[in-house]
Amino acid sequence: MSTDRLIIFDTTLRDGEQSPGASMTREEKVRIAKALERLRVDVIEAGFPAASPGDFQSVQAVARAVQESRICGLARANDADIDRAGEAIQPAAQGRIHTFIATSPIHMERKLQLSPDQVVEQAVRAVKRARQYCDDVEFSPEDAGRSEPDFLCRILEAVIDAGASTVNIPDTVGYAVPEQFGALIADLRNRVPNADKAVWSVHCHNDLGLAVANSLAAVLNGARQVECTINGLGERAGNASLEEIVMAVRTRQDVFPCDTRIETREIVPCSRLVANITGFTVQPNKAVVGANAFAHESGIHQDGVLKHRETYEIMRAEDVGWHTNRMVLGKHSGRNAFRSRLRELGVEFESESHLNEAFARFKELADKKHDIFDEDLQALVTEASQELEQEALRLLSLRVCSETGERPCARVTLEFNGDERTVDAEGGGPVDAAFKAIDSVVQSGTQLVLYSVNSITTGTDAQGEVTVRLERAGRVVNGQGSDTDIVIASAKAYVNALNRLLTAGQRKHPQAEGV
Ligand code: KIV
Ligand code: ZN
Repeated sequence: MSTDRLIIFDTTLRDGEQSPGASMTREEKVRIAKALERLRVDVIEAGFPAASPGDFQSVQAVARAVQESRICGLARANDADIDRAGEAIQPAAQGRIHTFIATSPIHMERKLQLSPDQVVEQAVRAVKRARQYCDDVEFSPEDAGRSEPDFLCRILEAVIDAGASTVNIPDTVGYAVPEQFGALIADLRNRVPNADKAVWSVHCHNDLGLAVANSLAAVLNGARQVECTINGLGERAGNASLEEIVMAVRTRQDVFPCDTRIETREIVPCSRLVANITGFTVQPNKAVVGANAFAHESGIHQDGVLKHRETYEIMRAEDVGWHTNRMVLGKHSGRNAFRSRLRELGVEFESESHLNEAFARFKELADKKHDIFDEDLQALVTEASQELEQEALRLLSLRVCSETGERPCARVTLEFNGDERTVDAEGGGPVDAAFKAIDSVVQSGTQLVLYSVNSITTGTDAQGEVTVRLERAGRVVNGQGSDTDIVIASAKAYVNALNRLLTAGQRKHPQAEGV
């Protein structure tokens, strides 16, 4: 079969970040972008620069840090957004502006309050303006899955004429089904007269659990770029999952007339990093990256796999990066070994004090835990960088008591806005008591909507990784903490979530009302 290139456009840092609670700091975005570069993603959508000054700076930082992947900034179809995106991607070795405007009758009438003629005019103007910043411009008719095909043909022809080199068909609300979505792509490619002047792309949401199937149906009908995210993160039910798209195409080369340039052994490390940073853990039975994806439970399967692995395995676990865990460092490793392993993982320290802070944590961990894996190092860096931010709330110490027949209690010492406070509380369990004690100081008025604990690696000495999701007045934040003691990890996660809530600024959502 001929092997066209299938371009992988990763939007974990933009659409992925639109998952409630998944917002990331600039430093975290750079770490993920470096992991995506190691994965050999073709295009990284690094954010929506017009959302806030912080988002602008994150896109700029990613553009500076990454060399091998193209860096894309999202912009609504208006001058101000495009100028902001153009400026943000300016340091990139290879840049792209992705501009969009809604084209479905319901979005044009209700959200934009624009006529179809005005929408076409604005789209063309936006593409032309974006071309003043770079040659690589992508256009998306938002909610294409519910737009009229005739109108799509009209607007797509106009934007390709105006200079769009990629046209992306988003199923914004996850409404499409594979056969129909594949037919839509074929129809558009046949009917748009200048279709051959652009790469055809798709961007599918997973509201009906069909994002990957719809994307693959589009690929079979000529799409040569797929927009996707690590672990399928994204708005609402998420986007098409990168690892599933890549492995489906790679494994079924008898079906797909194209392949990606993804370094598949980086899939699992990248998945773990995104889960660690965002606090969106991966379900065990998730394809490719779930903990059980390659585990054979039944005796019959195990017997088959031992005799000949292909009896039950269609992919090799090591090809997607399982079992690459190495005991990388130990108690006696020095600062240089520590720094150079982290450099291999894409972590550069901003200053000596950042390195010292992380190294001190490493030594503490190595005293408690014999084998230190890459995942431990990533969790440690996440925490050390949180510590260095000027946070309003800091956990100084925690003591809990938990005894059969007794009510659990906690004593917590915190620094809150520069004042040190020690408080006691009781609770249903030690975690509940610790959270109550912390909240008695902060009086946050939040609701705990999720609490989850996972072990980062295996063994009873493994670090527990805790995610806490808090909600206040419709705003959702996630906090993470890790420690070999899960009560301490829980308190760290709670404090981290509270800090995010206390410091969060206002950001625009790209798909909210207006253009
Ligand atoms: O889902 C969507 O339509 C989007 C666009 C901005 C491409 O994310
Ligand atoms: Zn989207």
